[in-house]
Amino acid sequence: METMEMVHILDHPLLQHKLSILRNKETSVKDFRQLVSEISTLMCYEATRDLPLIEVEVETPLATTKVNRLGGKKLAIVPILRAGLGMVDGILNLIPSARVGHIGLYRDPESLAPVEYYCKMPADIFDRRAIIVDPMLATGGSAIAAIQFLKGYGCQDIKLMNIIAAPEGIRAVREAHPDIPIYCAHVDDCLNEHGYIVPGLGDAGDRIFGTK
Ligand code: PRP
Ligand code: URA
Repeated sequence: METMEMVHILDHPLLQHKLSILRNKETSVKDFRQLVSEISTLMCYEATRDLPLIEVEVETPLATTKVNRLGGKKLAIVPILRAGLGMVDGILNLIPSARVGHIGLYRDPESLAPVEYYCKMPADIFDRRAIIVDPMLATGGSAIAAIQFLKGYGCQDIKLMNIIAAPEGIRAVREAHPDIPIYCAHVDDCLNEHGYIVPGLGDAGDRIFGTK
């Protein structure tokens, strides 16, 4: 894992292999969905490395021993709708008791500014570690708005997880929220004139839900 300040590029070979299939325009909706889920599981494994542990005692069939369990705040996964939904199950595979908060945002096709249409958080979101998930970090507008929402709810421990990030999006999030760590599997070249990540994988929401 490379670390540039707060930006973690998760370059595990399994992740890179799965990402190579995800990018292929011939990949079916079914396989795309499955790969997003698998990639999310692998990314979650890396992004939760710093979770605190507490020592407890258990009795094995042979002896009493001290073991480590997850301690501290509970987790919340916060997908940015729609495409972020595709990442939720893969993370819940590893952390089945995590709560899920939803933020509905879409990009205005002209201005590329995020437009909010839905928001529903667990009641105790302020007391949880939150991981915002969205496959694509393009201009960064959606991620910046989502982080702002969570901060507004009182969240103090927030991470952002994207499968592919554009340099522009990383820069914008770092400027707006320098305290928030970003985890991604690849930083691509640039955005095109329509705000799409190049080479990217196209429209993640459309490819997950088969809407194009
Ligand atoms: C996509 C993507 C992000 C956003 C990234 O969502 O899933 O949420 O664009 O772009 P940004 O960094 O420039 O904000 P989109 O608006 O296409 O909505 P969808 O998930 O409903 O398809
Ligand atoms: N949203 C996507 O789904 N893909 C991009 O390349 C940029 C924003």
